[in-house]
Amino acid sequence: MKKAKTVYVCSECDYQSAKWMGRCPGCGSWNTFVEETYESESPAEKSSASRRQAMLARSAGEAEPQPLSSEALPDYLRRSTGIGEFDRVLGGGLVEGSVVLLSGEPGIGKSTLLLQICASLAADRKVLYVSGEESAAQISLRAKRLGIHGGGIYLLTETNVEKILSHAKKLGPDIIIVDSIQTMYHSESGTVPGSITQIRECAGVFINKAKSDGTSVILVGHVNKEGSIAGPKVLEHMVDTVLYFEGESRQNCRVIRAMKNRFGSTNELGVFEMTDAGLREVESPSELLLADRPEGVSGNCAVCVIEGTRPLVGELQALATPTVFPSPRRMSTGIDYNRVSLVLAVLEKRLGLRFSSSDVYINVIGGIKIDETASDAGMALAMISTIRDIPVPDDLICIGEIGLSGEVRAVSRIEQRIREGERLGFSKIAVPSRNLSKSKPQTKQETELIPIKTVFDLLKLLKSPKQ
Ligand SMILES: Nc1ncnc2c1ncn2[C@@H]1O[C@H](COP(=O)(O)OP(=O)(O)O)[C@@H](O)[C@H]1O
Ligand SMILES: [Mg+2]
Repeated sequence: MKKAKTVYVCSECDYQSAKWMGRCPGCGSWNTFVEETYESESPAEKSSASRRQAMLARSAGEAEPQPLSSEALPDYLRRSTGIGEFDRVLGGGLVEGSVVLLSGEPGIGKSTLLLQICASLAADRKVLYVSGEESAAQISLRAKRLGIHGGGIYLLTETNVEKILSHAKKLGPDIIIVDSIQTMYHSESGTVPGSITQIRECAGVFINKAKSDGTSVILVGHVNKEGSIAGPKVLEHMVDTVLYFEGESRQNCRVIRAMKNRFGSTNELGVFEMTDAGLREVESPSELLLADRPEGVSGNCAVCVIEGTRPLVGELQALATPTVFPSPRRMSTGIDYNRVSLVLAVLEKRLGLRFSSSDVYINVIGGIKIDETASDAGMALAMISTIRDIPVPDDLICIGEIGLSGEVRAVSRIEQRIREGERLGFSKIAVPSRNLSKSKPQTKQETELIPIKTVFDLLKLLKSPKQ
């Protein structure tokens, strides 16, 4: 009988040790060691040998140096998945021979999205959907609910990667979808499925397959409780594209974001709405975000941020209530906490508003995250509105970055933001006066552009009692 061995592996850099350690000597990270039990001999030797093998397999076929300008260098082929929002985050479509890692919280809709992608890809390509989590009956039930007929989609419920590869060899699919990489196992790596070594080995096998014969692979990755991808950090380095699927599972809005993309920008967002019939693409996310706007309530303000190439109008809500704590609470959802503190500090110092005796809550509607400073002025206006209890006019949108001296700084691509605001029916657009100094952007006749220079100008934007 083989003797079981326990080693501790660093999830960041793969350093292995016989004892648990708080700090990894290899990469210096804290608290990254996880226990792994092996049934067989020397894991270090085995994993490094198999990695070497994988590297060799990838570079098999005698590479020769060749000039970069050479016509003979292959160009990569990009093909649409048929789902525009997914193509957008991938940088314009799925690249042949690329490996995409799609991760997200349980229940967010990863399997649903992938089944829909399968259906759309299967129109002209052969797709192999490998599921290690659900039975064929469960998947077929979901397909029925989504109205997918399944022609061209081959289903395989298997977790052994060697068997999956042999099936793939026979079938010759253009795309392989693996749901999820944490459930896969390689019989030669002696650990249990989901362990760091197993995830790395199995991912390596699929990556080799993709690089050797041009099959595109989409891997589903679980996230751990901190929200990062469960498994070794190297997994993110190994694949070509890392996508995060996020959103509030109670709300319908779902967003895909690229964290890494070897074939495109990482700024683009793909927006979907979860419906009974699956995920629906949202071409105009602003309309979804503004759908149930409360009217005439203090503390709300519309802002416009640019996500990738697309302007997005969303609503920021602020609520200030008298505190019962010695140090008041500050809470932010969907927006950087430090940015909230900075804007609060500027308003206290420059406008003399007393937030120090109030708890302040900031929330972005729709479960999206805003990380552009162009939302500062809107956030400041929402804060002023809540502390004064005077609403912001419903047809006003506020754009601008706030500096520490209370100045409103210029933002990029102002025309695009104004046009999006106009399209959604906002007739008052507050913009940094520094953006208007060189040239006045083109607007509709009925649009009122309100220049704002400092945070003092924000006070004038609140609804007057007559309105
Ligand atoms: N019968 C159903 N009717 C409507 N929505 C459903 C139904 N079953 C599942 N869903 C939705 O699909 C989500 C699960 O999606 P799924 O693709 O399995 O998530 P993941 O693969 O990310 O764990 C659920 O959170 C729920 O919102
Ligand atoms: Mg799933």
